[in-house]
Amino acid sequence: MPFKIADDPETNYRELVRTAYNRCAMDYAGQRRTTPEPELNLITEHLAPGSKILDVGCGAGIPVAQHLAGMFNLTGIDISSNMIALAKKNVPTAEFIIANVMETEFPAGRFDAIVSFYAIFHIPRQEHQDLLRRFAQWLRPGGLLLFTVARYDDGPGYTEDDFFGGTMYWSNFGPSTYKKFLTETGFQIEKDGIVGGGSGSIDAPEEVHPFFFAIKREGL
Ligand SMILES: C[S@@+](CC[C@H](N)C(=O)[O-])C[C@H]1O[C@@H](n2cnc3c(N)ncnc32)[C@H](O)[C@@H]1O
Repeated sequence: MPFKIADDPETNYRELVRTAYNRCAMDYAGQRRTTPEPELNLITEHLAPGSKILDVGCGAGIPVAQHLAGMFNLTGIDISSNMIALAKKNVPTAEFIIANVMETEFPAGRFDAIVSFYAIFHIPRQEHQDLLRRFAQWLRPGGLLLFTVARYDDGPGYTEDDFFGGTMYWSNFGPSTYKKFLTETGFQIEKDGIVGGGSGSIDAPEEVHPFFFAIKREGL
């Protein structure tokens, strides 16, 4: 069976994700398109040069961190040490941290923007509202947030047996839940839609992902 409900109490699914990306870092990076998603313009066109941006689940740094580091002060965070090793080589001007984003602290208001492409769906979904709360804390008032999730609607987390030859874990809510979470955690949604369809994602034309672009409300 290629897909299985992820309900094994003996399995540490976060560890599974870390191990899987350590194993496939080179292969994943080799297949990732080198042009950034057009939706990244939502961030770049609104920020002054030198603004501070956090890239969550930055992977090997291409294309997103590399594109942003040319104009901005970029920090990338990723749970996979092999991904971060590649990112450091690919984007020498940025700062990179090996860490689980759910166990990381940054000073309040530290960032002007946070981006996260194709990463949040690897974190157990019961933690997603807390993650958005963390993002709100790390952003300055008026700060920007751009992230993608997975296309499928609400359902339990699952594993896939053949993700670059290994097992991978996915967990996600449907888009309406993220809209509710964003509003509850202090964001105003500016735009949402679909990333992908061959427009810059991993080389799979059928692969599309909902995205959300939101602003941290002033006065929070
Ligand atoms: C599909 S890759 C996307 C990489 C990159 N954002 C891109 O656009 O190509 C997902 C990345 O999220 C990272 N990741 C997964 N769970 C994480 C967590 N809890 N904290 C930090 N990074 C995580 C993985 O190690 C992996 O590099």
